[in-house]
Amino acid sequence: MFKAKNKFRFETPLVEMSENMKVTKDIKADGEIADHKRPMQADRNLYNQHDHGGSAKPSPLQ
Ligand SMILES: [Fe+2]
Repeated sequence: MFKAKNKFRFETPLVEMSENMKVTKDIKADGEIADHKRPMQADRNLYNQHDHGGSAKPSPLQ
């Protein structure tokens, strides 16, 4: 176990874990978040473009 009062900062291009990661609070990213399928932005793009056979596009956009 590692404990720090404020934070750990890793100055490296990639942090990789061999097994699962679980957090008990929020996750924030300045860049993209993706799973095995696609980035979340791609999901938003899909959602924003969909309709139901000619109905209005979603509003507000995600
Ligand atoms: Fe819909």
